[in-house]
Amino acid sequence: MHEDLEKVLFTREQILHRIRELAEEISGDYQGREVMLVTVLKGAVFFLTHLAQSLTIPARLDFLGIASFSPGRALPGVVRIAKDLDQDIQGMDVLVVEDIVDTGLTLRYLLNVLSGRQPNSLVVCTFLDKATRRLVDIPVKYRCFEIPDRFVVGFGLDYDQRYRTLPCVGILKSQIYQK
Ligand code: IMP
Repeated sequence: MHEDLEKVLFTREQILHRIRELAEEISGDYQGREVMLVTVLKGAVFFLTHLAQSLTIPARLDFLGIASFSPGRALPGVVRIAKDLDQDIQGMDVLVVEDIVDTGLTLRYLLNVLSGRQPNSLVVCTFLDKATRRLVDIPVKYRCFEIPDRFVVGFGLDYDQRYRTLPCVGILKSQIYQK
């Protein structure tokens, strides 16, 4: 285990197993259709690559970059699109692929923007869900894991751009962000 982690929540094996299960469920639900996987950079990229390769339905990929107006996350959800999609999503079955849904404010903003582009359907698929922290009601149809209200890193999730490449998801020691 990495020395900055207090505890490993999910190992790489557990994560990959769960992603395959989720991909099976999504492939069944979208049988005969093509999905547009809209991934929010950068955290969700690790989840996306495994999910996309496990889908048995055709999928297109596109990416959204979000910039926060408050670097310290003092104002959660105050965000803007820093990198927009390259493709038009009108009439498409869109799956928004997120790393983690916390308060839900970021996703509420994104879903508002994307629904205005008239996709055929718009559904959220998140790697992690901190459901107890939710401030706004967001429809999350697919989730890999629900987690407690602790700060986690790894498998794409970062603290100050670090720890994304850890192969597991773990709780970061509080001394690291209280420094
Ligand atoms: P929300 O708008 O509060 O739902 O925030 C979602 C964003 O907060 C995610 O996309 C992450 O960037 C960040 N975030 C929330 N909790 C964590 C965590 O435990 N670890 C790493 N990033 C987190």
